[in-house]
Order: sequence, then structure tokens, then C-alpha cells
Amino acid sequence: MILVVGGAGYIGSHVNKALSAHGHETVVLDNLVYGHREFVKWGTFTLADLADIDSLRLVFKRYNIEAVMHFAAYAYVGESVLDPQKYYLNNLRNTLNLLQVMAEADVKHLVFSSTCATYGIPIKIPIDESHPQAPINPYGRSKLMVEHVLDDYSRAYGLKYVSLRYFNAAGADPDGDIGEQHNPETHLIPLVLNTILNKCSSVTIFGIDYDTPDGTCIRDYIHVTDLANAHLLALEYLRNGGRSGAFNLGNGNGFSVNAVIEKAVMITGEKIKVEIAGRREGDPPILVGSAEKAKAVLGWTPQYPDLEDILDTAWQWHKTASTK
Ligand SMILES: NC(=O)c1ccc[n+]([C@@H]2O[C@H](COP(=O)([O-])OP(=O)(O)OC[C@H]3O[C@@H](n4cnc5c(N)ncnc54)[C@H](O)[C@@H]3O)[C@@H](O)[C@H]2O)c1
Repeated sequence: MILVVGGAGYIGSHVNKALSAHGHETVVLDNLVYGHREFVKWGTFTLADLADIDSLRLVFKRYNIEAVMHFAAYAYVGESVLDPQKYYLNNLRNTLNLLQVMAEADVKHLVFSSTCATYGIPIKIPIDESHPQAPINPYGRSKLMVEHVLDDYSRAYGLKYVSLRYFNAAGADPDGDIGEQHNPETHLIPLVLNTILNKCSSVTIFGIDYDTPDGTCIRDYIHVTDLANAHLLALEYLRNGGRSGAFNLGNGNGFSVNAVIEKAVMITGEKIKVEIAGRREGDPPILVGSAEKAKAVLGWTPQYPDLEDILDTAWQWHKTASTK
């Protein structure tokens, strides 16, 4: 059985679906602080908090867990600056709890959700895995700390892990079963679609004077179903004795904030009210990753690299979700 920690959230629920579709039995563990019970449509659900080590032990006793996929974390950059303790406790200490219980249960395989935020301000684009890691906020630092812990534990205790450094996860399940729903929402694509659906009054563009072709920031959007498939491949890789390490997961293509908004207007056929604000501190002009290592070593090929597919799947899901 595969334990999907944080599997009621956006990315974890898509991975849970992919695991089930490929014949894996899954147990989803989530405290539902940000997750959605209705996103857990596959496998078994258990309500638990990583902070509660005794309930973790019970889960590992109850189920025959062979590997863990770990998505649970707080991921609001601005909040992490204002309240770093919250981030170090959940993202770091609670991950130590999970690793401790995995060791007690002799579970050796872990796939961990890391982030491009561990790189900080890029000194070279596209960013590959050898790029220096110098995060500029507590969120990114908490994830980098876990990466270091995993490295140490793999040397000392024989843990086998893959850290997947996601760029911007986007899009929704092409079957429309699940989608992206963060509360509060800070991600551009759902914010744009929520504006169209009148859930927000306007979309704010932070900075139009960057050194990019249209002056707005460029980001690498990777379809959540492509992320999910990479997790399956990472699991296979570990089972086949692959070496522990980190892999970027991105599209290799950047899209500007303006380009995303324009494409959303085209796909939905609706108008969007846009407001312009100043730059946000710590927003690099361009963040684009190289996922060549994941392609070469894991055999990963993104199936939905086009912005249009990413936006279209997100739109289909948002439209349906807004009528429920
Ligand atoms: N969304 C992105 O673009 C993106 C990019 C890079 C990295 N990541 C990382 O990927 C992971 C998943 O992101 P997401 O967008 O799906 O977030 P999400 O908030 O939708 O999912 C996280 C889930 O973890 C659960 N959780 C949090 N703390 C918990 C705890 N102590 N015990 C049990 N469950 C807990 C939440 O309830 C939620 O269901 C996170 O670790 C995030 O840092 C996300």
C-alpha cells in the first residue's frame, strides 16, 4: 500500500488518482486543514495530523505501507515570512515525525514534494538541479532543510528518497474529477478563472516593468497530471534501486502573466478585469526549470505542455465546481 500524506490537497489528490489508476492501493492521510475530503475518491481516507506521532504509528500499524508520498505542508510564501515558526513546525518538524515513524516501521521509500522556491533568485535560466539553492523565504528554506534531512537520513539509515522540485503546478484532472482549490487562493490560473466566474472582482498583476518581453513575470506552468505521472515513475525508480536525489519537474517553457491572462480570455470567451500593482518583493522576473534529468533518468514526458491544455482543463473543472 502507498501512503499519500496530504492526499486531500491539490497535487496529492491527482497523484492518488494516478496511483489508483495504475493498480496501487492507497491510504490518504490528511488533517483537512487545507484539503478537501471530497477530493479523496480513491483508496482509503484517514483523518490525522502529522504533528500527532501516535496516530501516525497507528496508521503504519494498521496498513501494510510499502512507500510514502509526502505532500503535506504549508505553502504560502508571504505567511511564511510573517510566521516562520508555523512553517518550520509543519514543514520540517512534522516531516521529521513522518520519517521517524517510517524508520520504526522499516518503510524505506519516500517521494517528497519540494519546490523551485529552494533555488531562490535564479542566476541562470533554465534552472537545473545543479543551480545553487539559496531560498529567500522561510517556506523555501523549510523545504530545503527537509531536502538536507533526507540526504542525511539516506546516508545514515538507508532511506531511499526522491525529492521532486515542482515549478508552478497548474491545470486539473482531464476527466474533471478533481481540480485546484486553495483557500486562500494565491495561484494565478485559479485567480484568473475565479475572476471570470465572479468569485473575485479582478486579477492583480504585480509589476509590468520587468525585463521580460511584455514586462510581466514569466513562470513555468506544469500540468498537475504530468506531475502525477512523474510520481509514479519516481516510485518505480526507487523500487528498481534508483539512487536517491532531486529532480526538477517543469515544462521548460515560460509563460508571462499577461500571456496567461490573454489565453484565458481566449479559451473562456470572457473578459477579465485586471488591476496593475507594484512589484512584490522576492518575485524573480523569470523562473523556468529544466526537467531534462527527470526525462533522462525517470523516463518522464509531459503530456500536457501547452498552456492551452493547462488552462482548458482548469476551466472545465472550475466551471463545474462553481455550479456545485
Ligand atoms: N501547488 C504548487 O504549485 C506547488 C509548487 C511547488 C511545491 N508544492 C508543494 O507541493 C505540496 C502540495 O501542494 P498543494 O498545492 O497540493 O497544496 P495543498 O494545500 O492543496 O495540499 C497540502 C495538503 O496537506 C495537508 N496537510 C498540511 N499539513 C498537514 C499535517 N500537519 N498533517 C496532515 N495533513 C496536512 C493539507 O490539508 C492539504 O490537503 C506542498 O508540499 C507544496 O509545498 C506545490
